Amino acid sequence: MISIQEKHLLQAPSGLLQIPRLPQSSSTRGYAAYPSDLTFPIRFSLIIPTFNERDNIERMVARLSHLLDEVMPNDYELLVVDDNSPDLTWEYAQDLADQYPNLLVMRRQHERGLSTAVIRGWQAARGEIIGVIDADLQHPPEVLLKLLEKIEDGADLAVASRHVEGGGVSSWSATRRFLSRGAQLLGLMILPRVLSSVSDPMSGYFLVKRKAIAGVPLNPVGYKILLEVIGRGNIQEIAEVGYVFQEREVGESKVTWRQYKDYLHHLARLRIDSGRLGRWGRHLNFPVGRFIRFAFVGLSGLLVDMGLLYFFYDVLSFGLTRSAILAGELAIVNNFLWNDRWTFKDLAQRQSTRQQVLKRFLKFNIICLMGLILKILLLNMFFNGIHLNAYLANFLAIAIVTAWNFWINLKLNWRVTQVS
Ligand code: GDD
Ligand code: MN
Repeated sequence: MISIQEKHLLQAPSGLLQIPRLPQSSSTRGYAAYPSDLTFPIRFSLIIPTFNERDNIERMVARLSHLLDEVMPNDYELLVVDDNSPDLTWEYAQDLADQYPNLLVMRRQHERGLSTAVIRGWQAARGEIIGVIDADLQHPPEVLLKLLEKIEDGADLAVASRHVEGGGVSSWSATRRFLSRGAQLLGLMILPRVLSSVSDPMSGYFLVKRKAIAGVPLNPVGYKILLEVIGRGNIQEIAEVGYVFQEREVGESKVTWRQYKDYLHHLARLRIDSGRLGRWGRHLNFPVGRFIRFAFVGLSGLLVDMGLLYFFYDVLSFGLTRSAILAGELAIVNNFLWNDRWTFKDLAQRQSTRQQVLKRFLKFNIICLMGLILKILLLNMFFNGIHLNAYLANFLAIAIVTAWNFWINLKLNWRVTQVS
């Protein structure tokens, strides 16, 4: 028997951010409003990502339900994906679900962020067409019908755009316009293939065919889920529909400087993954992006080591060996902290008890020590064996040891053992 609390509440998927080719059965989706036999695909699933949208959600659901009941009664679902809003948006949405049988709610408590909210919603969705719309009524629901039409006419992706005929923004400040256009221009320079394929790559209002994005590991950062869909999906045909971005009546935008930082990070990640190096890495199952971060950390360690060696040896006049050991160990601490909090952050977060961190730090030290021995051996082999120039020999030795260090740490130290 489904209890009232669980009714209409979908389990939040975890693990890989990847959309299944076929909809998940309701048993894996957790408790849902419809009987367990209704697990077959439906035509359309619309994700409504929410954070503190309590005062908007009812009007939004009412307008969407009214619109879609007309054109596809019982062949659509609305999924509110809420990140545990302090204003209890998820609870308000759950209460609405009795009145709107096609409404489902996902309350995420262990993951946050707009892009992953949308993907987790799509993972739990049943629709052959999946989409996303803002919950604050700034995206006019009526545009949905035109977007659906474009998909039915054969488009893989239909984007609501502010920058085509019929598009615009109600009243954005000059700063917001400048920032939005500036971000778009920057994107065109870093990732021209993706950013040039639509007139409004910043849009968060679009529909996509499930099969165009299913089975592809996604790895978004921040707000711009459309970049991820175009950058990693199998998108052949794109259609655009003009719309006017409305003034928000209640609540406020969650866009902060962090979203702009995330946007740059997202562009860089897509750039690496979609480039030759990224394709080579995927082919060999080698995480290129992570290795680049590891190498940057190694570079920072080199600078820390050299700087501290100067401080201990020249400023404090410690002996050379004592200075080198102190500087070397502090550089290892520097590298461990950066790797734990940046390079392997997603893996470290899943094993974050104090003992686990300490264990990782000790293993990291041992691996670095073994790396140092390997480096000395390689340096001698290159210098005395094949008579390379000392600095070239040292550089080659460092490069090989960095790759070795990375692979051992990834496989032995930060790897998350999937406890079944
Ligand atoms: N689940 C979840 N988690 N939802 C979120 C989060 C989050 O961390 N942050 C924002 N949202 C929801 C908001 O509740 C709203 O429904 C929608 O995402 C858009 O957030 P806003 O804060 O209103 O964004 P905006 O008004 O500045 O709009 C800009 O970003 C949107 C999202 O990319 C514009 O670029 C829009 O075109 C774009 O759709
Ligand atoms: Mn908004």
